[in-house]
Amino acid sequence: MLSKRVKNIAQSETLAIDSKAKQLKKEGKDVVILAAGEPDFNTPENIKQAAKKAIDSNFTRYTPVGGITELRKAVAEKFKRENNISYDASEVMISCGGKHSLYNIMMAVLDKGDEAILPVPYWVSYKEMIKLADAKPVFCKTDDIFKLTADMVSDKITDKTKMLVLNSPCNPSGAVVEHDEIKKIADLAIKHNFYVLSDEVYEHFVYNDKKNLSIASLNEDIKKLTITSNSVSKTYAMTGWRIGYTGAGKEIIKAMENLQSHSTSNPSNIAQYAALEALTTPQDSVKGMVKAFDERRRFVHKRLNEIHDISCVEPEGAFYAFADISKTGMKSIDFASNLLDEALVAVVPGIAFGMEGYIRLSYAASIHEIERGLDRIDKWVKQKRANSVG
Ligand SMILES: Cc1ncc(COP(=O)(O)O)c(C=O)c1O
Repeated sequence: MLSKRVKNIAQSETLAIDSKAKQLKKEGKDVVILAAGEPDFNTPENIKQAAKKAIDSNFTRYTPVGGITELRKAVAEKFKRENNISYDASEVMISCGGKHSLYNIMMAVLDKGDEAILPVPYWVSYKEMIKLADAKPVFCKTDDIFKLTADMVSDKITDKTKMLVLNSPCNPSGAVVEHDEIKKIADLAIKHNFYVLSDEVYEHFVYNDKKNLSIASLNEDIKKLTITSNSVSKTYAMTGWRIGYTGAGKEIIKAMENLQSHSTSNPSNIAQYAALEALTTPQDSVKGMVKAFDERRRFVHKRLNEIHDISCVEPEGAFYAFADISKTGMKSIDFASNLLDEALVAVVPGIAFGMEGYIRLSYAASIHEIERGLDRIDKWVKQKRANSVG
């Protein structure tokens, strides 16, 4: 009796593995969780205080659907300051997390028959959201270090192309699209008149002197076609607060607001005040997190490549390593599920991101946990190898 719509969507593998691992932990098992897509840091103190103050000030009622004016203004200023994009506050809206922003965007611009180009590997929810909007995901291969180029996009353009999903830095690969390719992608979008959904939730997590480039900042023509999506979740270790935001033309923002007015209404009033504090005060906590992630990133990359039958490209962004396990001969789903059952380490199978032969490890965990997890993987892979040889 369920709708075809929901029957057609797959559950989020990342959340499924994460909750199984957390359940095992609750049962007292010594599980190492390298599956989570969230920083292990706590939300900074000043942000928590701002939320407490909001409660004490009775900011506990409905707000305008698209968010309080102060936060919309702060987001517009953030886009100008950090991304060099001039959005007016009326071209900005707040939703219940980046995921909700993305869902609203897909629903607002995609129709049946439309095609959305999705580079592989992709973050799990894009594909399902595109399907929920009745459109068709068109998968686009990236190169052997997961980098997207304009030529790869160009090959996938048809007269039905309505959108390209651009996620740089990328979850799960950590790849950062080169700036000259972003410029060429912008030219393609202008020439063929399709939207670019630029999901920039990992914008601050870039390493090796890489810099994020927001495609909407390039010129007015591409700005009109770009929908920039972001959230406070990863940047400020605020995953549970559920505040995401979008910058786009007024027409799109208005449509998204209409949609949101009939689903969630405004995001939590209290969380909006917390996000306002996060975006308008010194950004030292972000710098501290990026530094810690960079150290872990180097360690994970080195240690993974020491494991027999596993290799890993150096991730340039986000907080994930996407490791090639194809030489083990195991399917990624078997690898991840047996590893959790037998060695108590949680990772996510690459197939969830559209790529067989890989697993995603999150290094948003302490060095100690990462070390324990990788030691266990090393030992487990060796055992599997010995068993198969024997
Ligand atoms: C690429 C990407 N976009 C968006 C999100 C959504 O983040 P949130 O809904 O917590 O803001 C995530 C979370 O994992 C992500 O990895």
